[in-house]
Amino acid sequence: MKAFEYLEQTSQKRMDDLFAFLRYPSVSAKSEHKGDIAACAEWLKNHFESIGFKSMIHPTAGHPIVYAEYLVGPHVPTVLYYGHYDVQPAEPFELWTTPPFEPTIRDGYIYARGCCDDKGQTFTHLKGLEAILRADGTLPVNAKFLVEGEEEGGSTANLSKFIRENKTLLKADIVVVSDTAQFNKNLPAVTFGLRGISSVEVFVYGPNRDVHSGTFGGAIANPVNVLCQMIGKLHDKNGKVAIPGFYSDVKLPSKWERQQFKRLPYNEAAYKKMLGVSALQGEKGFTTHERTWVRPTLDVNGITGGYQGEGGKTIIPSKASAKITMRLVPNMNPLKTAKKLDQYFKKIAPKSVRVEVKVHGGAEAVVVPTDGPWLEAVGRAIKTGFGKTPVYMKEGGSIPVAGDFKSSLGIDTLFVGFGQNDDNIHSPNERFRVEDFERGCRTAVAIPFELAKVKK
Ligand code: BES
Ligand code: MN
Ligand code: MN
Repeated sequence: MKAFEYLEQTSQKRMDDLFAFLRYPSVSAKSEHKGDIAACAEWLKNHFESIGFKSMIHPTAGHPIVYAEYLVGPHVPTVLYYGHYDVQPAEPFELWTTPPFEPTIRDGYIYARGCCDDKGQTFTHLKGLEAILRADGTLPVNAKFLVEGEEEGGSTANLSKFIRENKTLLKADIVVVSDTAQFNKNLPAVTFGLRGISSVEVFVYGPNRDVHSGTFGGAIANPVNVLCQMIGKLHDKNGKVAIPGFYSDVKLPSKWERQQFKRLPYNEAAYKKMLGVSALQGEKGFTTHERTWVRPTLDVNGITGGYQGEGGKTIIPSKASAKITMRLVPNMNPLKTAKKLDQYFKKIAPKSVRVEVKVHGGAEAVVVPTDGPWLEAVGRAIKTGFGKTPVYMKEGGSIPVAGDFKSSLGIDTLFVGFGQNDDNIHSPNERFRVEDFERGCRTAVAIPFELAKVKK
């Protein structure tokens, strides 16, 4: 096919374009990068236009949404591509071998913040469709793109509103998202479900100011001590979350799902080595894949309190706090789950402290129907791009807006991930294999042709 030839002939230009995209420090969490985010959105819009798309920037109360479309006509299906151009903060900078916003290639990998999550993966679809347009002058589907700038912030408020208010604009037959991983370097995958998330922050207050730990130590509660004891009560000895009713809505994985997972070539020794741990730990009675894909979990993401500066300071801190996220499985509600934590946390708090729980929001788990024609179609596209038949798996991360595509637009999502588990997303030295980028671009060429074969 001519489009594949075009890809081959333009590989250097394609990498240059990706590097330009990666140079924007589009960190959504930090207000100091607001300008960089806006500039990145502008660049992306211009890039869409250079390919031949109609594109516009929709401002929101937060960071802008980039929308683009190339419409062929009502006789072909419409694909809505979703991705995000915002990235996680790059700190700690000193752990990066090369600076996070100066992309480089080393040992067959692109290194830069966002190269895998999710600029590089989203870019495969721009370049895949560009190749088809240059080769054929048209597309086999109507293509719409929704590329947001707030995914890593965790709140879907602005994007959800945009989707609710633009149902006609976004009308499509299927959503395609490349923001997940393959099973491993030799095994591409289609992900048929992601966990949801519920985020909270807990605060424990003691004395009205930091006080001398010699004068008062022993007489009053230490908020850091108490917070740690309370966190210790969030799991039981079998690795289950100890919050009453935490599992009451949980939908268990089907037998088919569990069998499917067991068939995957899992290597525990390699898994431990990749993470630098000597043993694994988790909920009793479940395998690693079940624990990370279809069981709910609770993790402290950060904990703060007391003196953390140079040298020592003998105090009883006045307060302590922790950021906690719970990963949810189908049928669990983020708000309801947060409330259960709130109640339990207050119940186990000693009278000597005051406790506050702030609910930061969340998203439900998403499930892709495995019986329809779409999964098979996208599987064939992966086979073309990778030369290998993909496996079906789930993943533990969350793409908060995915639920909205179903609830607001009534459309299912296909998760076609090109990354790897060891690509260091959210970590220092984030990377994306050049080969995965290239195989991703080839898959991106094949996807619209395969999806076009599925009858509307
Ligand atoms: N691309 C990830 C989600 C992901 C990671 C899916 C790994 C599958 C495998 C996404 O950018 C992400 O990091 N999401 C956040 C959402 C949160 C900030 C609400 C997550 O999962 O922590
Ligand atoms: Mn992502
Ligand atoms: Mn991410």
